[in-house]
Amino acid sequence: MGHPPVVPFVLVLVLTVGLLIFALVTGIRGPRNLHVKVSCAALLALGLAIYLAEVVGGFWVFPKIPLRVHLSFAIPGALMGLVTAVSGVLVLKDRCSRRTHRRIVSLFLLLVLAASTTGVWIFWVGRAKPL
Ligand code: HEM
Repeated sequence: MGHPPVVPFVLVLVLTVGLLIFALVTGIRGPRNLHVKVSCAALLALGLAIYLAEVVGGFWVFPKIPLRVHLSFAIPGALMGLVTAVSGVLVLKDRCSRRTHRRIVSLFLLLVLAASTTGVWIFWVGRAKPL
């Protein structure tokens, strides 16, 4: 099965956090064009981070309850990423207010934060499968 891709996972995670912060800042006060590009990059990076977390997680055994707690934030968080993108496109088309987009973004970021914290937790309380 080889070794877990821990280094690419951590690098993509750091990139994702940076891009999400950049998306937040450009959304509030940046040029619209840049905000849309950065946001698309942030959501793609988040997708890649989730994929790599799955791959690395395959090398671990997680206790049931912490895993359930983590998934209860991670699954709605991933779905809210899609809702955020849709609401952003609707803002561009003048079919959604900036205020609504901002509220959706807030919920999305809260879920990402909760999923990330509990994500670290499950690795902490879990154990590596023997290679
Ligand atoms: C494909 C995804 C997205 C699209 C198409 C999009 C589009 C937009 C647009 C058109 C605006 C209005 C900007 C302006 O009037 O200058 C906006 C505002 C904003 N966006 Fe996004 N966005 C997306 C994702 C995100 C993400 C991922 C975040 C946060 C991490 C975010 C945070 C914000 C914030 C905080 C505002 C300001 C809201 C306000 O005025 O209260 N957006 N977005």
